[in-house]
Amino acid sequence: MDSDYAACRVLFFLFIIISCTLQQCCANGINATQTASLFVNASESSVKKIPHTMFGISFEEINHAGAGGLWAELVSNRGFEAGGQNTPSNIDPWSIIGDESLLIVSTESSSCFDRNKVALRMEVMCDISGENICPKGGVGVYNPGFWGMNIEQGKAYKVTFYVRSSQPIEISVSFIGSNGRQTLATSNIIAADVTNWTKKEVVLEAQGTDQNSRLQLTTTRKNIIWLDQVSAMPLSTHKGHGFRGDLFNMLADLKPGFIRFPGGSFVEGDWLTNAFRWKETVGSWEERPGHFGDVWQYWTDDGLGFFEYLQLAEDLGAVPVWVFNNGFSHNDKVDTSTLLPFVQDTLNAIEFARGDPTTKWGSLRASMGHEEPFDLRYVAVGNQDCGNNYRGNYLKYYSAIKKAYPDINIISNCDGSSIPLDHPADLYDFHVYTNANSMFSMAHNFDHTSRNGPKAFVSEYAVTGNDAGRGSLLKALGEAGFLIGLERNSDVVVMASNAPLFVNANDWRFNPDAIVFDSSKVYGTPTYWMQQMFKESNGAILLNSKLQATSSTSLITSAISWKNLDNNKSYLRIKIVNFGSDKVALKIIVDGLDKNLIEAEGSTMTILSSTNVMDENTFNEPKKVAPVTNPLGNASNNMNVVLPPYSLTSIDLLKKSSIVQVVGPNTVQNLL
Ligand code: AHR
Repeated sequence: MDSDYAACRVLFFLFIIISCTLQQCCANGINATQTASLFVNASESSVKKIPHTMFGISFEEINHAGAGGLWAELVSNRGFEAGGQNTPSNIDPWSIIGDESLLIVSTESSSCFDRNKVALRMEVMCDISGENICPKGGVGVYNPGFWGMNIEQGKAYKVTFYVRSSQPIEISVSFIGSNGRQTLATSNIIAADVTNWTKKEVVLEAQGTDQNSRLQLTTTRKNIIWLDQVSAMPLSTHKGHGFRGDLFNMLADLKPGFIRFPGGSFVEGDWLTNAFRWKETVGSWEERPGHFGDVWQYWTDDGLGFFEYLQLAEDLGAVPVWVFNNGFSHNDKVDTSTLLPFVQDTLNAIEFARGDPTTKWGSLRASMGHEEPFDLRYVAVGNQDCGNNYRGNYLKYYSAIKKAYPDINIISNCDGSSIPLDHPADLYDFHVYTNANSMFSMAHNFDHTSRNGPKAFVSEYAVTGNDAGRGSLLKALGEAGFLIGLERNSDVVVMASNAPLFVNANDWRFNPDAIVFDSSKVYGTPTYWMQQMFKESNGAILLNSKLQATSSTSLITSAISWKNLDNNKSYLRIKIVNFGSDKVALKIIVDGLDKNLIEAEGSTMTILSSTNVMDENTFNEPKKVAPVTNPLGNASNNMNVVLPPYSLTSIDLLKKSSIVQVVGPNTVQNLL
């Protein structure tokens, strides 16, 4: 009995010890500290220059990124064309104010604009007096914009519309609050003779604020009135170029090296008839037909057209990369033997962008306000079309473009990272959407790519699926690991952009995205902030570095030397992704940079992390997961730092800049 009891006690204590140890291990699973050492060679002898174009943005008309997003036009379906060319047609999202005893609203194919013939016809039966008196506020139509217009007190908005009637008109143009009653701004348009189509323009200054307003056009007079091309533009857009200021600033803050546009699948269309056709998007906005983007299932008035994309690139200081339709959609294609007019159409587009104002298409650009050519030097032949017959069409474009514009870089859709391309190209497109672990591992994807062929353009990369949520920290860290791998391979990968860039929170068609917005608010997801931590790499010097770690699979690092042009100071930046659940004590040893040449004051450590790896930002907590920068008091060429679990850390060592050495009688050499 006693021995049994003793055995039981031993077993019991063993159980307690084992379970305590296990518990401790589990508890320590988060808090355990791994160790690692990083050796950086700061002497810039065996270094690579990272291209200025390395990190950029890929802008696609997806998720209402442009229409109802970056393009600040407040009216949706401004030309009444979205319902199709057969009349009567659906006028959605326009609504009627007043019932059928007061007015009849329909569409007619009677506009003065040849490429967009549909106009609105409003037969008003009520009047200011008599038997059928109009309601006090009048009858007419209103447009709610893209899930509400953001009208802000003190700001001015230019409302333009085209009108025709055989009688004098009196129309109230107003911004009304979301309750349908509060008038935020109004103006009365009175005209005695509008028998021919007449353009009317008025600037409304808002007396109140409402993020969910609408634009309405009403009358209290019996009449038949035709309306077309109704536009409301804030006067406060970036440089007056039509870009919504807060969204533009989000892009500008990324300092993108390039901007790829306008897609993505948007370029292709599910069917060719719905593909993006540059020519239909240039010239005066009133004359653009607009089109239905069938891949992402929404109408766009094409206010953001080919010209505006090029202007956007110029305003951002980014190299434009135009993706053109190459005769392929998702479901149909133009045969190579009948491609010639399409090839010519592309050459016309390049002439529009770059041609002298004396050329046919260059003169159209100049008439739109841009006398100087745009700096278009990169074009991509389609999007994700490699495969069946791609080569045939591609070669037609390639030879025609190279002949006319030898300096233009041509991007193929076929992946040349593992096998050589069977056609000539300057760059090849590479897209990757995968889970966080795979993305992190793909940091090594280009390690063994041939250095002799065309360069890689990673024009779309993103962590998707469960790991991504609606933009998690985990997503951003997987992508950051991948980008560090690209930096290290920047002799062969010369451009990279995350996708998609924008999402209007009311039309979340493709998830996840980098920037989320609605009519008045915007926030960056962790992926956006992660990209901010790479922007200084454009044009920087990649330094040699070597990591020694026990858990090397969850750490990846790079080191660059870069100059801040704002303060003219030079830095050595070390970036580390800790993709593991343990914190890491990292010893950093910088060779070739004397500790006296590092200024501790002015050196910083920036960390992107959060308490939970699945944390996301929201409108309520827009910076829950955002980089936090602190001074690095112990900055030195031999120092210890702690990397939190699941984090991206960027260490900037400020290099002393004023040390110059006299080399000869008349020459000085900057030692740094
Ligand atoms: O980025 C979203 C979509 O993903 C793009 O339109 C397409 O190229 C890719 O499949």
